[in-house]
Amino acid sequence: MADVKKIAVIAGDGIGPEVVEEAIKVMKKTEELYGLSFEFEHGLFGGIAIDEKGTPLPDETLEICKRSDAVLLGAVGGPKWDSNPKELRPETGLLGIRKALGLFSNIRPATIFDCLKEASTLKPEVLEGTDLIVVRELTGGIYFGEKFRREGEHGEEAVDTCVYNAVEVERIVRQAFEIAQKRRKKLASVDKANVLETSRLWREVVNRIAPEYPDVELEHVLVDNCAMQLLRRPSSFDVIVTENMFGDILSDEAAMLTGSIGMLSSASLGEGAFGLYEPVHGSAPDIAGQGIANPIATILSVALMYRLTFGYEEAAASIEEAVKAVLDAGHRTGDIAVDKSQAIGTTAMGDLIVAAMK
Ligand code: IPM
Ligand code: MG
Repeated sequence: MADVKKIAVIAGDGIGPEVVEEAIKVMKKTEELYGLSFEFEHGLFGGIAIDEKGTPLPDETLEICKRSDAVLLGAVGGPKWDSNPKELRPETGLLGIRKALGLFSNIRPATIFDCLKEASTLKPEVLEGTDLIVVRELTGGIYFGEKFRREGEHGEEAVDTCVYNAVEVERIVRQAFEIAQKRRKKLASVDKANVLETSRLWREVVNRIAPEYPDVELEHVLVDNCAMQLLRRPSSFDVIVTENMFGDILSDEAAMLTGSIGMLSSASLGEGAFGLYEPVHGSAPDIAGQGIANPIATILSVALMYRLTFGYEEAAASIEEAVKAVLDAGHRTGDIAVDKSQAIGTTAMGDLIVAAMK
């Protein structure tokens, strides 16, 4: 029997609870198949926590996360809280948990599933072979810089400041180099060094440490150009590393290349093995509670957790193979179905994946 791993489960809002339930089913199946052992502790987070505790990130939830080995997150947010003041917004909880847990690195793979190529808006020949990872800095930059309002020459002004230090840049860039070393050994560092001082520092740091990774081919790409190249030559990218805000935007663009945001997983990591795992898609309030959400992104986030936090490679591969087998057999949830009348629900998809696991 493997040692018991503690998992903090924060299902959140919208379709969060529905997709998380399927991911837990998959984890339980791996306990059976691979002798793994998990202890789940649930915490309130996001809009539901605002309703029940008056804050998007209650202290108890943070404590549950801190005493766990990994966090499984569903999704947060919804129209109900959209007009709330900043401290009562689900997104504020998300930024708070990243900062409080020291999760400075956000890893978002964008991989084309061959059987879903038709779901992309790009031509198949452009997409061919696309398999990239966006490594996004997650606890610095304009997201966390000082923000305020002031009286200016033309009335009220709003200020957001973007700050990076070399330590913050170095740790994320090193992680990206290391990820690239284990893949196709190509790194694109994305910045706006022709305009921004933070970007000039970013580029200096990248160039200073690059000689330590001589096996990795490095290119510097300006962010506007990168947005363009992602549509023109997506398959030429392997690992993309960039600052917080650029990474937010480029990772959505990269996700959309695959045409199936319901399939994409993500990991947020800090210095050690601890990590937070969540689907890239949001809380999808429009379809919440209907049992039709695609649970695959969350299930694949479990595979990422097994690989990156626990080193359970075999169990991770088994989850990924089961997902592939179920898709190859033609099963689809509504978001990825060509013929919507044939679409299956959240639970049915989870059950099929569990049944396909070996
Ligand atoms: C993401 C989201 C968040 C972000 C929002 C919800 C605060 O867009 O995880 O990419 O901007 O980081
Ligand atoms: Mg985003």
